[in-house]
Amino acid sequence: MTIGIIGAGGIGQAFAAHMAKAGYEVLVSNSRGPESLAEVVRQLGPRARAGTRQEAAQADVVVVAVPWPQVHAALSDLPAWNGRTLIDTTNPVVQPGFRLADLNGSTSSEIVASLAPGARVVKVANTLLRAVLAANPNQAGGHRVLFMSGDDAAAKADVSGILEKVGFATIDLGGLASGGRLQQFPGGPLPILNLIKLP
Ligand SMILES: NC(=O)c1ccc[n+]([C@@H]2O[C@H](COP(=O)([O-])OP(=O)(O)OC[C@H]3O[C@@H](n4cnc5c(N)ncnc54)[C@H](OP(=O)(O)O)[C@@H]3O)[C@@H](O)[C@H]2O)c1
Repeated sequence: MTIGIIGAGGIGQAFAAHMAKAGYEVLVSNSRGPESLAEVVRQLGPRARAGTRQEAAQADVVVVAVPWPQVHAALSDLPAWNGRTLIDTTNPVVQPGFRLADLNGSTSSEIVASLAPGARVVKVANTLLRAVLAANPNQAGGHRVLFMSGDDAAAKADVSGILEKVGFATIDLGGLASGGRLQQFPGGPLPILNLIKLP
């Protein structure tokens, strides 16, 4: 299975490193083109390659990890989703001051879903700081917890399976509207909470 990653900054690279280590092929992309990712790919190792945003968006599972103001551009003009899974790691943050973007009453992942019609969107991995997300998820004899929301149970099960292979435990909060609100940063109660699920 190939995991395509749109956005190769702190979160995109953390995701890519975990996925490559777990044995998945990863295709990373950014706004400046594959040549700019040569060093990133070298550090990620042999399971990683760089591509265009459109190439990353054709993968079996796609991760979007770009700043909120760039989400619209990052998801525009992509091939049809046809029920493939889109993992949304974004936070609706406006700078300066880490303010909540105007979401017109929706959660940010509902907006992401509207920008990717036909994708099965799963919001996950947005609540931990990038250094915590990048660290070894196997801790103290247990597994670091990632909160997850989505309207498609099968997509959540697929994402959960991938993340468990990496070493994380997932907690399903429900749909994008209700669960998404709990894990939303800024505003929700769950961001920054770093839990380890013990056996
Ligand atoms: N940082 C954290 O601790 C943290 C934690 C949880 C969630 N998040 C959320 O995760 C998302 C990513 O954060 P980050 O810290 O990884 O950001 P970042 O380090 O600034 O990296 C952003 C990446 O997005 C790429 N990008 C921007 N516009 C793009 C476009 N139109 N198409 C393709 N790629 C594009 C950038 O590529 P170029 O450089 O080529 O433009 C860059 O690789 C944000 O929504 C953030 O709120 C961040």
